[in-house]
Amino acid sequence: MTDVCDIQTLIKKAEITHELTKCEIVALLTDNQYAAEFFAAADRVRREYVGDEVHLRGLIEFSNICKQNCLYCGLRRDNKKVDRYRLDIDTIIDFAGKATSYGYRTVVLQSGEDEWFDVDTMVTIIKKIKQLGLAITVSVGEKPREVYQAYREAGADRYLLRIETTDKELYEKLDPGMSWDNRVRCLQDIKELGFELGTGCLVGIPGQTIESLADDILFFKKMDADMIGVGPFIPNPDTPLAAEAGGTFDLSTKVMAMTRLLLPDINIPATTAMESLHPQGRVLALQRGANVVMPNVTEGEYRQMYLLYPGKICINDTPAHCRGCITGKIQGIGRQVSGTYGFRQKHA
Ligand code: 5AD
Ligand code: SF4
Ligand code: FES
Repeated sequence: MTDVCDIQTLIKKAEITHELTKCEIVALLTDNQYAAEFFAAADRVRREYVGDEVHLRGLIEFSNICKQNCLYCGLRRDNKKVDRYRLDIDTIIDFAGKATSYGYRTVVLQSGEDEWFDVDTMVTIIKKIKQLGLAITVSVGEKPREVYQAYREAGADRYLLRIETTDKELYEKLDPGMSWDNRVRCLQDIKELGFELGTGCLVGIPGQTIESLADDILFFKKMDADMIGVGPFIPNPDTPLAAEAGGTFDLSTKVMAMTRLLLPDINIPATTAMESLHPQGRVLALQRGANVVMPNVTEGEYRQMYLLYPGKICINDTPAHCRGCITGKIQGIGRQVSGTYGFRQKHA
């Protein structure tokens, strides 16, 4: 066991050098006594490297149709209880236009792995949204390199694809029919094509260990990811993992805070899943290392239908309401909403 003095030394080391060994990461993630000091260190590093501004990214969930069957996810193809939808191109562009009118500088185009949106369709959407002066993040899953390249050439700036877990065996158990090596190939292609690369992990999936979470964080560093989204696994009753325990808010924010300490200049969202577990989840996350929020700009009944997990926040709220709500929360903790695109400013 690591003693008290060691934990405080490790927090200092992480704050000053942004380097820790796997064993040191495990010691810090396991400690509960000095959690407040650990979070305060992550908050200081956040302020020093990325400042007090919070970047908002407007999230458009444009299709909940997915050919994959991830055991943890409510949108998995075997879940027959989901009402499936697919927005048409004009509706997607319309939502992006509304996002600009709410003052968002980025939209995130997210969907299940829905083959209807072939490369030409996505390129059309990306080009049209680009004309609105928005930065574009795409999050539509695993694709061949040529497809990523076409998105990039059409004007996409960023790509989100969580590794979910760096434990290959666990990944392939929870994501049947998918290959962990192919997922890493996707991340490498995305990086090489000049996107800002976003990845991340789930915390609390069955079979995951603290050691494995430490590997996740070291993997983020090795990939030189530009954005990392960490969220608790929340069991969905309509999936094979319905009876599992799920992740906790505290451990999820610890993994997030550790990510801030070791990758100090990247963008880190206060994730929706965190707020689904804790009523002040996003504000607390912003005070434990996060500097981004991704409010939903999808309108109407679609929000209720994009249910990855139960208890998802904002499913009955409008984009206008969420914009006001999140601004109030950010200002309530003495921070400001950024007016810039919020690309990563890499430190040497
Ligand atoms: N709980 C929390 N997050 C989930 N995701 C999928 N299912 C769940 C769940 N049950 C996350 C995955 C995916 C992202 C879009 O949503 O990490 O990458
Ligand atoms: Fe599909 Fe993504 Fe859900 Fe897996 S996590 S089933 S790929 S939407
Ligand atoms: Fe949607 Fe607060 S951000 S209701």
